[in-house]
Amino acid sequence: MSLASGLPRDLGGGLLLRQATAADVEALVQFNGTVHAEDKPFNTAVAAISREGLAGQHPTLGPSDHLIVEATPTGEIVSSIQFIPQTWSYAGIPFGIGRIEAVGTLPEYRRKGLVRHQMDVAHQWAAERGHLATFITGIPWYYAQFGYEQAVVFRTGRTIFPALVPPLPEGQTEPFHVRAATTADVPFIAARYAAATQRYLLTTVYSADLWRFDMTGRDPASLAAVTMAIIETPTGEAVGWLEHSNELFGGNLSTHNFEIIPGVSWLAVTPSVLRHLLAVGQQMAAPTGQPLRRLSLRGEAHPAFQAFPERFIAMHRANWNAYMRVPDIAAFLRHITPALEERLARSVAVGHTGALTLHWYRDGVQLTWEQGRLVGIEPWQPPRPENGDAAFPELTFLRRLFGWQTQEELEAGFNDAFSASPEVRVLLNILFPKEPSYIRSVS
Ligand SMILES: CC(C)(COP(=O)(O)OP(=O)(O)OC[C@H]1O[C@@H](n2cnc3c(N)ncnc32)[C@H](O)[C@@H]1OP(=O)(O)O)[C@@H](O)C(=O)NCCC(=O)NCCS
Repeated sequence: MSLASGLPRDLGGGLLLRQATAADVEALVQFNGTVHAEDKPFNTAVAAISREGLAGQHPTLGPSDHLIVEATPTGEIVSSIQFIPQTWSYAGIPFGIGRIEAVGTLPEYRRKGLVRHQMDVAHQWAAERGHLATFITGIPWYYAQFGYEQAVVFRTGRTIFPALVPPLPEGQTEPFHVRAATTADVPFIAARYAAATQRYLLTTVYSADLWRFDMTGRDPASLAAVTMAIIETPTGEAVGWLEHSNELFGGNLSTHNFEIIPGVSWLAVTPSVLRHLLAVGQQMAAPTGQPLRRLSLRGEAHPAFQAFPERFIAMHRANWNAYMRVPDIAAFLRHITPALEERLARSVAVGHTGALTLHWYRDGVQLTWEQGRLVGIEPWQPPRPENGDAAFPELTFLRRLFGWQTQEELEAGFNDAFSASPEVRVLLNILFPKEPSYIRSVS
């Protein structure tokens, strides 16, 4: 997709900012493999995922979704970012969002604002596509300077240590088996995924083409490569779907998805699945000479955690949260009006009438409620800082909007966040409840 955004742009000093083309594929793959190598000479997993996004087979990504800064005398790529358009769902309401990825600058060109220039263009691309937000995961804090707030628990889950995997009781045969998935299983997988998304506030809308690409289009060495499997009864009836990483990270085998069909017991299936994962993890660990340290399962609200509360241990890392940018909060609120009205209708404030003014000191919004209907969402500026029903410093309202923190948690962390009365706090927790999200981002 070719979008305006004033490209190519001469940045001065012999540097040109432009959209990538098919002619850049090899150079950009090499650039990404090198700039993201950290302490290694080259990162093959990053190079492989980079090629997947550039080579033309990806259902939604191609060279034109990449920005490049080149040194004009030589044509050398000195900085680049990737923009991954996708659709997320907020409480069942789809919205367009762009992911910023593969952000890198050669060491000798750093701290010259080259990423800043590219972020500006990516934000214009998002606006031109009608996206309501952009997001990024990555180095802590850095993206805050481009208007991002850490606001969505992006990748959390629980761990089970190998010793806590329940052994198969003596004399019994395994009641469930796991086999490799094929593309014929895509409808089954998509249905399990769709059912699982009901547990979460924010999820990714994932198409059949994307599932097929993940199953057949990825390089096994890619950062995004996964193993998809189907859980079956001994007679071959499919009861579930399993998705895990292809290698261990720090001795951990990460399971991204484990879902079963309605009417089947998590208590019954989970032990067989854990024994399967234990065997897979041990097989992966053997050639490394390191032990399998743990098995992890993603998600904040997974039924397996309820079924086996004393085996799965929470291991939360705050900086796995996604940084979110919402350039027009009023527009986002207008888009999710049905969800806000439904939350109110199910609450102690059903049928509420009144104005609710929320501000972030420089500006804010007024929500006008009439008998439970949200009839107006208008920009609102506080005449004085202490005015309004609630205040949120900087971008912290996004933590509430995206379900990361309750009003009390936010106010405990920020002295300049306030709600004018306990009743306002009740209303805010109704409208913006703390809720888990699960993002299986397009990548
Ligand atoms: C992080 C990285 C992409 C920054 O690239 P860059 O071209 O130097 O970024 P910019 O100069 O556009 O950064 C914008 C601002 O942030 C500052 N900045 C740069 N790196 C920073 C860092 N690690 N922490 C805080 N601020 C930083 C810059 O000085 C600049 O400030 P200014 O506008 O006030 O002058 C680069 O250091 C890099 O490639 N690192 C290795 C790969 C990596 O970690 N990528 C991120 C993966 S998510």
